[in-house]
Amino acid sequence: MCGIVGYIGKRQASEVILKGLQRLEYRGYDSAGFAILDDDMKILKIKGKVDELVKKDKEEMTEGHLGIGHTRWATHGEPSEINAHPHVGASGKFALVHNGIIENYNVLRKDLEKKGHKFTGETDTEVLAHLIEEIHDMSDIDFFQAVQQALGQVKGTYGIAVVHKYTPDRIIIARKGSPLLIGIGEDEYFVASDASPIIEYTKKVVYLEDEEMAVVTRDGYEVSTLKNITLTKEVHELAMNLEQIEKGGYPHFMLKEIFEQGGTIADCMRGRLMVAENRIQLGGLEGVVDKIINARRVVIAACGTSWHAGLVGEYLFEYLAHMPVEVEYASEFRYREQLVDERDVMIVISQSGETADTLAALREAKRNGAMVIGICNVVGSTIARETDAGVYTHAGPEIGVASTKAFTAQVTVLTMMAMLFGRQNKTLSDELMQELVQELKTIPEKVEEMLRNTDEIKNIARLFTYASHFLYLGRSYSFPVALEGALKLKEISYIHAEGYPAAEMKHGPIALIDEHMPVVVIAATDHTNEKMINNIEEVRARRGRIISISSDGQSDVDRLAEFSINIPEVHDCLTPLLSCIPLQLLSYYIAVNRKCHVDQPRNLAKSVTVE
Ligand code: AGP
Ligand code: GLU
Repeated sequence: MCGIVGYIGKRQASEVILKGLQRLEYRGYDSAGFAILDDDMKILKIKGKVDELVKKDKEEMTEGHLGIGHTRWATHGEPSEINAHPHVGASGKFALVHNGIIENYNVLRKDLEKKGHKFTGETDTEVLAHLIEEIHDMSDIDFFQAVQQALGQVKGTYGIAVVHKYTPDRIIIARKGSPLLIGIGEDEYFVASDASPIIEYTKKVVYLEDEEMAVVTRDGYEVSTLKNITLTKEVHELAMNLEQIEKGGYPHFMLKEIFEQGGTIADCMRGRLMVAENRIQLGGLEGVVDKIINARRVVIAACGTSWHAGLVGEYLFEYLAHMPVEVEYASEFRYREQLVDERDVMIVISQSGETADTLAALREAKRNGAMVIGICNVVGSTIARETDAGVYTHAGPEIGVASTKAFTAQVTVLTMMAMLFGRQNKTLSDELMQELVQELKTIPEKVEEMLRNTDEIKNIARLFTYASHFLYLGRSYSFPVALEGALKLKEISYIHAEGYPAAEMKHGPIALIDEHMPVVVIAATDHTNEKMINNIEEVRARRGRIISISSDGQSDVDRLAEFSINIPEVHDCLTPLLSCIPLQLLSYYIAVNRKCHVDQPRNLAKSVTVE
């Protein structure tokens, strides 16, 4: 959600910051701004896209070698130039950018107003800028101490970067609940909310943990806790490279990421799917497998697309490993009666590894004594660091807000986990294990094969570009795929879409079906297909327009559908890895036809770091 980038060194800070803000655009935002320190402090802000800020900077020609920038995703106060960050206090000496929410901003604001502070906008962030100034001016303390004391009064979450006009040799940063890292260059340092804005300058980073702050100067950095205990931090090497965060000839990141899936699934299985030995090896779970399979139950907690992957996981764990699984929305789990304890295991799934609700669910479960396993894409992310053990998805940076390759990688990890647990549990026979290992190996080439010809999908997208609603139906493993297909369409094309278990249709949604309703049926799972065919007939009888996703050779389904897209045949439990791909493409092409902003859909953020 929103982004921070800061720079101190020998380059023009505005150049580094503007480029950095462009790299952060994928996270979703509504306005942007930066502050540059030279002899004076200059602040530029805009509502809208970073390109506008670039234009404004060209007119104003900001100069200076120290600065902080921000893309804002409004939580308090409408998106506007005034509410955009950086914010300053009454005298304009301190400039602050902030990700997160200051929950007690109202109390603090009233108190500051009594002391004569006047506010220009409605954000919670502006209150913190005034508070820092008030504390600084009222006591004999320095810039760092003022920030530290102000944070002592704040309730809520923050990743902040602050600069002070009269101390133009440092950036102060602090974190609680919103990620921040320091990039270490040669005589130059960077601060950022994720690695994408700094990757072209350095691969060496230090991650801040909650309740830590740092002073970053031209000569180095010093990290301490909010309580002033100095810390020695480990320097990490970033694994990603610049190419991975650029479009590589594709018109959108989303399309690039869809087309990468053959490779990303292969990367995810590399060194884990041991074909010759007919086994699965997951290094990240070494030593904890027995505890997982002997758990009273497994609770999977996640949000959005990752939650859909969790649902696929539920079917897989039950079928292959006979393990009882519950899949929870992390946001609901965290506020429910906590019945999870040390007898249970929680699995959290998160592409970004920073989703606030998922992180909170993880912490609740740990507090109650449960072991927590992570499935994350972003290496070194907060969730990856806080879980007891875990498996990375290795899908590479996902920039498109709508998740695609991260989903297939999550499902791949869950499939491998279920196979591993099934073998350990002795619920998965030698024969079936052999079959699944062989088939899993062929998934990457099957994905490539499907992506070679997308004409039929483009054609369907063209015909249904202006539909107002869509229904997605599936059974068994295809049910979560139906939910995911509907989410993809909603997110990027703004068409209302709902996913349903196919048999539930007759308990309500069937009332919606008429000749204007496109119904996407995911009929790829053999063992439920007879029943699925009944559901297709029910839609046909009401003149709904059927688009089917079926396995090669399912002529019954093809015959009944107005349009059909075939996927290569695989074992039922592996079909989600293939059947989701035409749905990703369908929503992509519809969104492009509707001229929607595919990579940065309105109102959405890539990583939701607020509740
Ligand atoms: C996916 O297309 C969405 N943008 C969203 O639902 C996402 O999956 C959700 O916010 C969870 O994110 P995470 O995987 O980074 O935790
Ligand atoms: N709560 C702050 C605001 O609304 C920060 C939002 C963000 O994280 O971008 O301005």
